[in-house]
Amino acid sequence: MYKIFATVDEVSRYTAQRLLNKIKAVPNAKLGLATGSTMKPVYEHLLKKLTQTPLDLSQLITFNLDEYIGLSAQHPQSYCYYMHQYLFDKLQVPECNIHLPDGLTSDFVAACQAYSDAIQAMGGLDLQLLGIGSNGHIGFNEPQTCFASRTHVVELSEQTRIDNSRFFTDPAEMPTHALTMGIQDILDAKEIILVATGSHKAEIMAQLFSSEIDEALPASALKKHHNLSIVLDREAAALLPEQVLRSAI
Ligand code: F6R
Repeated sequence: MYKIFATVDEVSRYTAQRLLNKIKAVPNAKLGLATGSTMKPVYEHLLKKLTQTPLDLSQLITFNLDEYIGLSAQHPQSYCYYMHQYLFDKLQVPECNIHLPDGLTSDFVAACQAYSDAIQAMGGLDLQLLGIGSNGHIGFNEPQTCFASRTHVVELSEQTRIDNSRFFTDPAEMPTHALTMGIQDILDAKEIILVATGSHKAEIMAQLFSSEIDEALPASALKKHHNLSIVLDREAAALLPEQVLRSAI
């Protein structure tokens, strides 16, 4: 289940190859995608590989995990903008196959319900890509989120606001709320890849390893999943027990 590489570059190349393998095997794959700094090199490698070996992406369907409330698709810190900047603008995925929660909707309840319904109507996600927050969040499911949750509105935790305000020129612009796929939406995926890199993720990865399945640590829900890969660089894996490090290389 653990895969540990020496560098971020190797982690990203491996993860991109896993995405590519899925698209090759299942041309109409439903991919659950994430944003954040961990995913930028993953998408860079995916683009590089697709340039070397072009694939027909016309049937590919994507669902992003989350979006800030109050930011338009044109806002440089919105996840819609991120996805277009780092991936979609450079790929031939039909716009109608790309799904992100709408952070400007006037009816959050209906929009959340429709988002989870759309994923289920397509038969669930074939592969969900995840990063992890320093507080253990997956998507924007903050500590104490119910594991049975579907897409919902969240109030971002103080830790997440501190962590993510680094992306905003004026940290006061950092949104307080977001829309996120729920934990049950994530667990319904047939396959999950959790990626973490850097020494700032070492502590949460050690906590995740030793934790019981507990809503206080959202990522611990993943321990219930039968097809989970955890892909780390050496720095993020640094506090894992020796036997995990030895078996994962
Ligand atoms: C982003 C997302 C978040 C991030 C997490 C880690 O779509 O769902 O859970 O994956 O906050 O972010 P980075 O990669 O910036 O450390």
